[in-house]
Amino acid sequence: MKILVTGGAGYIGSHTVVELQNAGYDVVVVDNLCNSSEKSIERIFQITKKKVKFFKVDILDKEALSKIFDSEHFDCVIHFAGLKAVGESVKQPWRYYHNNICGTLTLLEVMESHNVKNIIFSSSATVYGNPATVPITEECPKGQCTNPYGWTKYMLEQILTDIQNADKSWNVVLLRYFNPIGAHQSGLIGEDPNGIPNNLMPYITQVAVGKQKELGVFGNTYNTPDGTGVRDYIHVVDLAKGHVKALQKIKENSGLSIYNLGTGKGYSVLEIVNTFQKVNDVKIPYSIKPKRDGDIAICYSSAEKAKKELGWKAEHGIEDMCRDAWNWQKNNPNGFKS
Ligand code: NAD
Ligand code: UFG
Repeated sequence: MKILVTGGAGYIGSHTVVELQNAGYDVVVVDNLCNSSEKSIERIFQITKKKVKFFKVDILDKEALSKIFDSEHFDCVIHFAGLKAVGESVKQPWRYYHNNICGTLTLLEVMESHNVKNIIFSSSATVYGNPATVPITEECPKGQCTNPYGWTKYMLEQILTDIQNADKSWNVVLLRYFNPIGAHQSGLIGEDPNGIPNNLMPYITQVAVGKQKELGVFGNTYNTPDGTGVRDYIHVVDLAKGHVKALQKIKENSGLSIYNLGTGKGYSVLEIVNTFQKVNDVKIPYSIKPKRDGDIAICYSSAEKAKKELGWKAEHGIEDMCRDAWNWQKNNPNGFKS
């Protein structure tokens, strides 16, 4: 089977390409490198010893995308390409809606015109909004998103659902990721954010490597055991393997399927900080800061549906996640720029 991976040079995409190649799939990557480096493609080769066919193309460029579809015969598209910074999306909504919505619509048009009607889409737990109860199952109602980035995921889920509903020959898998962290065990690929990291783990690793002075913990008065926010952190390699499993649904012509990809367990900010310090024997200075706008107290998945229907479950715990995140950062203090 030949798979097109859009956004395959990025954090989750690169780890997924590795797992797809390890599972014997033929992989082609399209990425405009707006938030990634071509070095990740070279590193994938170092890990798998298999060449990745790479096109530096923007998914908004219909002509260039069509040419690729003319020359390759894809069986399925795994669609990661998108902008993902929550705060930036609030400041630049037009850019986010244009890139994520128009980009995906362009991709879908090219897929349709080449009779490629199988897609696995990167969605997010953000579509649940502030959940009424945890663990969050796939049946929980979607909620109010708090930022344009979240709305792009919400809207794209709806667009893909409507397309599949109108034409049953489409197979669509919506994967709702919880909080991916960690890196490949080789230390060759990992998360490489631009500028000051917004997310917890890359911030912690940058404190550990001396690029940031201290971590700000956003609030300690939530209704959680230690007052700090609770999330369902998932090792990026487990997440990547979830995509390989999801291909099964495509092969079975399952129509529309929706899965949470999480571990089913929640950990607080301080639990992550303490585990990181313990397993890596490094100090993470931190101070308590005001709550961040739009943050919720607790978010963790029910991972039962993916386990039952895909035979997938996360294998790595938070100790592995903390160890692998640090292994990547200390070997690559400047990410792919080092
Ligand atoms: P990332 O930024 O590392 O990867 C996204 C890739 O898409 C980048 O390599 C970027 O260059 C590329 N890209 C963006 N716009 C493009 C365009 N118009 N044409 C071609 N390439 C383009 O992000 P990631 O963390 O790997 O996330 C992958 C996907 O998963 C995204 O859709 C993201 O929204 C989603 N997601 C991520 C998280 C998370 O916490 N990392 C959580 C839930 C969902
Ligand atoms: N946090 C801090 N300090 C920081 C960064 C984060 O205390 O410097 C806290 C947050 O307040 C939160 C937890 O760490 O309690 C996790 O925050 P992240 O920013 O790492 O992740 P979020 O859960 O806020 O958001 C992530 C992705 C979103 C996605 C969402 C749901 O960034 O894109 O998960 O899947 F929508």
